[in-house]
Amino acid sequence: MSDDTNKMTVPSEAFASEALISATDYEDLYRRSVEDPVSFWAEQGKILDWMEPYTQVKKTCFDFGRVDIKWYSDGVLNVSANCIDRHLARKSLQTAIIFEPDDPNEPARHITYKELSDKVNRMANVLLSQGVMRGDRVVIYLPMIPEAAYAMLACARIGAIHSIVFAGFSPDALANRINDCGAKLVITSDTAPRGGRRTPLKANTDAALLHCSDKVRCLVVKHTGDQISWVQGRDVDVKYLMEHASPDCPPRPMNAEDPLFILYTSGSTGKPKGVVHSSGGYLAYAALTHKYVFDYHDGDVFWCTADVGWVTGHSYIVYGPLANGATTVMFEGVPTYPDAGRFWAVCEKHKVNQFYTAPTALRSLMGQGNEWVEKYDLSSLKVLGSVGEPINPEAWNWYNEVVGKGNCPIVDTWWQTETGGHLLTPLPGAIPTKPGSATLPFFGVQPVILDATTGEEMTETEAEGVLCLKDSWPGQMRTVWGDHERFQETYFQQYKGYYFSGDGCRRDADGYYWITGRVDDVINVSGHRMGTAEVESALVAHAKVAEAAVVGMPHELKGQGIYAYVTLMNDVEPSDALRAELEKWVRTEIGPIAKPDFIQWAPGLPKTRSGKIMRRILRKIAENDTGSLGDISTLAEPQVVDELIQNSLYQK
Ligand code: WT7
Repeated sequence: MSDDTNKMTVPSEAFASEALISATDYEDLYRRSVEDPVSFWAEQGKILDWMEPYTQVKKTCFDFGRVDIKWYSDGVLNVSANCIDRHLARKSLQTAIIFEPDDPNEPARHITYKELSDKVNRMANVLLSQGVMRGDRVVIYLPMIPEAAYAMLACARIGAIHSIVFAGFSPDALANRINDCGAKLVITSDTAPRGGRRTPLKANTDAALLHCSDKVRCLVVKHTGDQISWVQGRDVDVKYLMEHASPDCPPRPMNAEDPLFILYTSGSTGKPKGVVHSSGGYLAYAALTHKYVFDYHDGDVFWCTADVGWVTGHSYIVYGPLANGATTVMFEGVPTYPDAGRFWAVCEKHKVNQFYTAPTALRSLMGQGNEWVEKYDLSSLKVLGSVGEPINPEAWNWYNEVVGKGNCPIVDTWWQTETGGHLLTPLPGAIPTKPGSATLPFFGVQPVILDATTGEEMTETEAEGVLCLKDSWPGQMRTVWGDHERFQETYFQQYKGYYFSGDGCRRDADGYYWITGRVDDVINVSGHRMGTAEVESALVAHAKVAEAAVVGMPHELKGQGIYAYVTLMNDVEPSDALRAELEKWVRTEIGPIAKPDFIQWAPGLPKTRSGKIMRRILRKIAENDTGSLGDISTLAEPQVVDELIQNSLYQK
């Protein structure tokens, strides 16, 4: 470790004196939160309005075979009422959502809490009129437009469970998710503008619905007005129906443990899992982390650049900010359109106070030169956030100096789809930061580092192993949709009595946590999780492919890239045309984010005598670290390794 990464940056006095949580507050509150979690969380749950108060704060069991997680389980609330109705008395004319379109020449839209209420109530009534009932699933496949937030909140209002599918996913991926959760309805738009191009979402949905029950209805937001095909009796013009719907739909009382949403995420094996989040615990946790981690003060403008298709968008564009009565920015575009100054232009235009993005975006902007940042007045910025993957110290320093001018604490937030909200993160007025470290746990979070092989907890301050969590927090996922067994096996089997994150981690002499990356067969491409097994099964589904093995490799911009070893069928000749065909194939099977960066033709794959592919070796070859391959004598055919090394695509 270089001295630079161990250097602490202390929040300025000016910042600390205004901050919601000071260094001593953090220590006191953290201690209370783990010594007496029930009283701590009983109090924190009051961040929400409850229709019927809870008396049961926490009922959790991490024992394998009986995993059961419940928070505020006898409380009754409605999530949309917490995000909208309760703010109307004081903030009806305050902006809830600032919509910044892809095209910078189109005007931004400021949606007040009153207007948000009107739209969400109408959309909720439209859903009811389409026969959506409490507990029904609704798939949302939309661009980053206000209607995505309306749809989420409308579901929450009537007790339907939403499942957002990222608009970059293919028709196949969409169909799989619609079928897995048994959705009654899918909400999409005509097309989705992004970076000046248009994704044909309605056409994708038409293709997906060919593989779904013909009972699934399709609500279409006419957003761009682009030409689309229309299936009478199945397709519905949602804006038209909203205009004619009543603006009054009473929020349905829901139990705290009723599912709010399902979000699919990749794992190390098989198909994506439907991560299920609750209504009460999830919302309380999203609201609390949003408030304290970003030091959100009333009136601030908050911008999280994620897409609502990922958990970051759920917790920190929609639910956390709106539960806190915040002004949240929804950006339809990309960081580099029309040019590399777009993020900063938007920060200046809307006087953004807290800005939250991913290291991959920072790395790509960093490469374009500081002048793109310096052109804009960024004096409104107070806190800068990072999420999705470890942030390299170069990007951290650039963020700190060039974007934040040394005045804005950086919060490097470590969490996962499964955790609902931040688990390891600095609180900006309380915790000094080090470039590349997610620092310390949020209230109530008890990280432990276990020895990967023995599973023993490493209690000394300095330790390196796998990161697990002891005990629960309210935002934790409750189950895998339709497969509680899989939930237990994935997260609670390997290390008994703990939640296993899948990440490796080091704790330094100051007790700071440093995430070292995934320890399972999951790769992190531009902050998006991709299961290697998923890419492999897409590849082998191609008629010319006999076998495939996929591993991660270091990638300058994306953090990790996708490296695929492909064995072709006997009679098939490798060619560049075939390589391009396979790349395209994976794009259409899963989506553009799954496209391999490299495809290496592999006449054979290194396997043990029992036929198990030795990924460790393939990873080393992809990383060009062939000096330390380790023991290969147990391989069935050790010579395939030489062949693969000779034809490695590294640096080509
Ligand atoms: C995985 C979770 C949580 C929203 C975005 C991704 C990695 C996430 C950090 C960070 C180091 C990070 C981990 C984690 N990760 N944030 N600040 N530092 N690594 O959600 O798709 O569920 O992926 O992303 O490996 O396990 P996700």
